[in-house]
Amino acid sequence: MAVWSAPGKVFLFGEHAVVYGKPGIAMGIKPRVYVTVRKTRHPPRVKSPYLEMCFEKMGVNGSVYIHSQLPSSSGLGSSAAVTVATLSAINDEFSLGHSRDDIAHLAFQVEKEVQMGRASPTDTYVSTFGGIVLIMGGTKRRLPPQDFHLVIGNTMVSHSTAKMVEQVATFREEDPNIVNPILDAIEAVTLKSMHVFNDHRSLGRYMDINHELLEALGVGHPSLTRLVMAARSAGAYGAKITGAGGGGSMVALCPKRSKSKVAGAIEGCDGKAITTTIDTEGARKESEDDRKHTGKAGR
Ligand code: PMV
Repeated sequence: MAVWSAPGKVFLFGEHAVVYGKPGIAMGIKPRVYVTVRKTRHPPRVKSPYLEMCFEKMGVNGSVYIHSQLPSSSGLGSSAAVTVATLSAINDEFSLGHSRDDIAHLAFQVEKEVQMGRASPTDTYVSTFGGIVLIMGGTKRRLPPQDFHLVIGNTMVSHSTAKMVEQVATFREEDPNIVNPILDAIEAVTLKSMHVFNDHRSLGRYMDINHELLEALGVGHPSLTRLVMAARSAGAYGAKITGAGGGGSMVALCPKRSKSKVAGAIEGCDGKAITTTIDTEGARKESEDDRKHTGKAGR
């Protein structure tokens, strides 16, 4: 039996613009997905296409049990975390000898195939390695870790990343003179943000600008607007949509002392608040006798 876990992620800057080769900045967050894999002679039938594809790519068969701290379809990278943790646990249980780079690469292939080609390597890379990552074109660069105090607000309105990406693509085809300058402005905000990572007040201001630009791209939602406004009024340095939008989650950068007030304001607007910080570990082997994460096998 092998137990592995992998973290979720938030986009701090640049979602949607990354689809067009612009820079994006994403960060691993504390909530994790825990996966237990066991060699079994007669594995139960697989229920999730992600899990099925993980076993197929690794060329083995076994049973899998998942325990997740991440809500699904909420823009926090839960499918990537499941995929990364499952591949890592299979690799360990069957002694396949894949490196961390191999796992990140395979996880991206799994996501891309299951999501019919609509996946960027962001979620799987961040979930594998943790930390803060700058994604630009095909390249990924790890940025120095930062002690950000974040409150995530899940609107509980489920969204489809593929649908939102397509919506932006259609808007861009119809109105390139409107959409391209918005994408350029998101790029400028993302690049500028890297110079003020230590100045959380300025960073928050850039998050606010990024949010308004995402609204202009048409990926806002009334429930996201409510949570963003509530977080700002409760003392956040800045707040924005994180991920594809149209529902899903927002993220607020907060002074340490304001975290619980911001979380309360989000809950007061019917959002589900998650107070969190950076994860720097990425995929991690868990102790096998930690009963909390292992549970009963079956998939
Ligand atoms: O909602 P999420 O976490 O899947 O984020 C999507 C981010 C996009 O930039 C819209 C798409 C992508 O693949 O990068």
